[in-house]
Amino acid sequence: MKIHIITAFPNLILSPLEESIIKRSQEKQLVEIFVHNLRDYSTDKHHKVDDYPYGGAPGMILKPEPIFACIESILERFKISNPNLLFLTPQGKTFHQSKAVELSEKDHLIFLCGHYKGIDERIRDYWKMDEISIGDYVLTGGELPTLVVIDSVIRLIPGVISDIESARTDSFYDNRLDCPYYTRPEDFRGLKVPEVLLSGHHANIQDWQEQKAREKTQKYRPDLLNNNKKKKD
Ligand code: ADE
Repeated sequence: MKIHIITAFPNLILSPLEESIIKRSQEKQLVEIFVHNLRDYSTDKHHKVDDYPYGGAPGMILKPEPIFACIESILERFKISNPNLLFLTPQGKTFHQSKAVELSEKDHLIFLCGHYKGIDERIRDYWKMDEISIGDYVLTGGELPTLVVIDSVIRLIPGVISDIESARTDSFYDNRLDCPYYTRPEDFRGLKVPEVLLSGHHANIQDWQEQKAREKTQKYRPDLLNNNKKKKD
């Protein structure tokens, strides 16, 4: 998969791409990531990418020209005719694991990171981007939300995580939270690993994991259980 990120703040993005699973996905050549600096597409001598909003309002707005130029350059250079454009914004549809699965099946993704007050509305009107929010709170820009989405997508690409079962048991896969896990030592300062996990009895362990997952979901996200019920009805 080729991932393009358009941003006026590339440094906010670069270092997390060079760590852990995202780094390994690139080393294994399963993912290629291109960070495009929006300022390189500004014709302004100061590389300005934002301006004041018409009609007057607090905050600055990202200008259309550099964004159009950058998107068009990516489409031409990478021969993309049907672009998967994503715009991270608090006004978008709330991100969910099912969306991560959908995006992990694409051959390319192009992320536009907003910043300041927002982007010129003509960019939205023209490019028909998939607008995604990572939650009901406002961050200073789309860079961190883009990283959140990219991280969740990359780990689902076949071959990225060696134990794909591990990704399948993640919280939210079945609209429920994951069960608790323990590792060595068996006894840490008197805090013991539940007996059943040491029993080697596979069926009992699975029953215990399912029950604990249900209890956790009931405690922290009862809305998910209601969703499952609604789906069945
Ligand atoms: N940009 C600023 N806040 C955001 C959010 N909550 N989700 C996605 N993009 C954003």
